[in-house]
Amino acid sequence: MAGLFISFEGIDGAGKSTHIDALAQVFATQGRVVTMTREPGGTPLAEKLRALVLNDTMDAMTEALLVFAARRDHLQQVIEPALARGEVVLCDRFTDATFAYQGGGRGFDLGILTYLERMVQTTKGLDGNFVRQPDLTLWFELAPEIAAQRLASARVPDKFEAQPVDFFKCVSDGYLRRVQADPSRFARLAAAQAREAVWAEVLQAVRQKGWLT
Ligand code: TYD
Repeated sequence: MAGLFISFEGIDGAGKSTHIDALAQVFATQGRVVTMTREPGGTPLAEKLRALVLNDTMDAMTEALLVFAARRDHLQQVIEPALARGEVVLCDRFTDATFAYQGGGRGFDLGILTYLERMVQTTKGLDGNFVRQPDLTLWFELAPEIAAQRLASARVPDKFEAQPVDFFKCVSDGYLRRVQADPSRFARLAAAQAREAVWAEVLQAVRQKGWLT
């Protein structure tokens, strides 16, 4: 069976986590081996970089270089081998988050991000090299004002979660640009709904691809 790479995206507070667990269960029930992972992170080295990115103050370029360094290790150690084994890889955030947070939120140069994306995600395929991208990206779309309300009643915020609503408006715009650049890769989910309604949209998006019976 061919490997499947599905990423989950959205601003902080959009509520993607529970759906990642639930989708993993559905694939497992259908006999698929599932690798659940996250970015930044997913390997011992990338998790160390995650701690720096989420807690330390740094300029936007440093941040971008660290998330791409983490991504390179994650792809080589975890994602590519799992896909080669034919597994389903469910990844909590991937490169769209870099374009949204470092590009949109922090205003870092999109051309440089595009260059780094191509360098870091180039991989060997049967017909030569190609740039690895998720087969499907579920974008949990939520107004930044609603996300802020949800976050206010949640845990102690990390560096990004502590940002003002205006930052998340820029992050959302960053996500939207990515969707517009490659619409067929994305499913847009209305994340302001009740959890069950959002889950129904998750299932529908994956079923539409023909990946669930
Ligand atoms: P998140 O995925 O929301 O995890 P948790 O639910 O444990 O808080 O946190 C990751 C944070 O990292 C999130 O605020 C977005 C940010 N991020 C970037 O800024 N750039 C990236 O490339 C990635 C993958 C994440």
